[in-house]
Amino acid sequence: MNRAPLIFLGIFFALAFSWTGIVLTNQISYGSLQPVYDENEGKSFPLQTPGLAARGKLVYEDLGCLYCHSQQVRREGYGDDIERGWGERQSVARDYIRERRVLLGTMRTGPDLRNIGARQTDTTWHYLHLYDPQLTSPGSNMPPFKFLFETRKIIGQPSPKAIQSKLPAKYQPPAGYEIVPNERGENLVSYLLSLKDTYAYPETKNVYVAPKPEAGKEEKK
Ligand code: HEC
Repeated sequence: MNRAPLIFLGIFFALAFSWTGIVLTNQISYGSLQPVYDENEGKSFPLQTPGLAARGKLVYEDLGCLYCHSQQVRREGYGDDIERGWGERQSVARDYIRERRVLLGTMRTGPDLRNIGARQTDTTWHYLHLYDPQLTSPGSNMPPFKFLFETRKIIGQPSPKAIQSKLPAKYQPPAGYEIVPNERGENLVSYLLSLKDTYAYPETKNVYVAPKPEAGKEEKK
């Protein structure tokens, strides 16, 4: 008996069903999502990633930060992300629509970074942390990224971005020299500071929103 047509139909339907389930239904649900224009702010959200930050994203990809850090805040009941202070609300599909490559990540050796720009707004903190994570987070097992900095002679005025005054004695450069982030370091920190999904889209109004931390109480890291 010739079973070829049956096998062909079997394979055809298996592929057609999985394509419908995996590709088509998601395209129908999310493919037409548009940015939301906010008249009060005069901007559309999610915001476009600024130029420096867009270059910083390439550094983030290049250095493999996503092997230890995720970029998606799970809703309540699916983990303690909101209790840990990783976001005010869960991530929704619209948060990512401007991104060509979405860096959700697979592992969480370190904290989720989707809202790091809202949580840690101090540029110098980021520089010190990248220079040596032990300086800001003793016991951290994040590797140092000292190659994102250069030691250079101070010519004229010292740079406002120089970090040596905040570094311990063992990292002090020779007199007359300063330690400043290089271009990749600056771009990477611009990217980190641009990561904040705090805008309330219509669809986020039904989802869980963490209560604001009490005034005077330190936010959980
Ligand atoms: C080997 C895993 C690992 C890699 C690779 C790694 N990190 Fe981390 N990261 C951690 C851990 C663990 C922590 C928590 C302790 C700390 O603050 O250092 C952390 C913390 C952070 C924080 C502070 C988060 C907070 O909530 O305070 C930032 C920002 C960060 N990492 C950025 C980066 C960037 C950018 C890269 C790539 C250049 C990177 N990490 C690569 C493990 C890693």
